[in-house]
Amino acid sequence: MRIIRKVDQLRGALAQLRDKGLTIGLVPTMGALHAGHRSLVDRSVKENDATVVSVFVNPTQFNNPADLATYPRTEEADAALLEQAGVDIAFIPSVEEIYPEKDDTQWDLGPVAEVMEGPMRPGHFNGVCQIVSRLFNYVNPDRAYFGEKDFQQIAVIRRMTQIMGSPIEIVACPIVREDDGLALSSRNVRLSKEQRAIAPHIHRVLAKSLDWKAEGLTPREVIDRVVAEINSQPGLEVEYYEIVDAITMQPVDAWPKDGETPAAGCVTVYCGDVRLIDNIKY
Ligand code: PAJ
Repeated sequence: MRIIRKVDQLRGALAQLRDKGLTIGLVPTMGALHAGHRSLVDRSVKENDATVVSVFVNPTQFNNPADLATYPRTEEADAALLEQAGVDIAFIPSVEEIYPEKDDTQWDLGPVAEVMEGPMRPGHFNGVCQIVSRLFNYVNPDRAYFGEKDFQQIAVIRRMTQIMGSPIEIVACPIVREDDGLALSSRNVRLSKEQRAIAPHIHRVLAKSLDWKAEGLTPREVIDRVVAEINSQPGLEVEYYEIVDAITMQPVDAWPKDGETPAAGCVTVYCGDVRLIDNIKY
């Protein structure tokens, strides 16, 4: 595996791969890699001749400076994991390398970015598009891999790809969970022992909500019940829970019929000051 820190070198290395006619998969990450990231990497390695993984804590997508300052950074362990996974290139640039000048691009993403994380984290999706569009331009992969853990992020990336007129295939990968159901996240290391013990309640409630749907509750009723059940656990506080069309991200009033786009229930929950996100498909 090559570790590359410069955009020019990355372009050069990719030109060589392309000359050989190889297909290329890209997995964008912010490092502190865990089995969730690993599942994306494994899939890319399987589906492409060569895989590039970027490790870059992108400052422009953090709307909270404290979150950026405390974001875990574990470069050595990340490189070892990527090497072991059979990755060809780990792209680990500095902030100056990616943003030699301030990026003022404003992405007009429309409705997919106007709900849920959009208003809750102003500028977040714009920052995600700033970095991912740059990575797409440097690497020009055949496929790019994203996790359904960040469900709305995938809808935003699809929209961005459409705006760019890019043929890159966006591959959505299922959420990887701990044995007790907690969705793996780089931010889980911030949970205290007590918080870690209660956090799986979030997924338990989401899983139970499938039964409530089966029992005939409407989306509105399921939302109210999910919020009440998660909040009934001391130490957890729901920020929002919405049931949306899995493509458009717009709230649904009725459950989709067979063959229609599924609905997704997307939640963010504060566990102390750690903000956890999760979702489930209906
Ligand atoms: P990061 O949080 O590091 O996540 C990188 C990728 O791993 C994302 O596509 C995310 O959805 C996926 N992922 C994280 N936890 C997962 C889990 N438990 N199961 C499955 N996939 C999981 O998302 C970002 O970084 C950034 O916004 C990025 C796209 C890299 C742009 O900076």
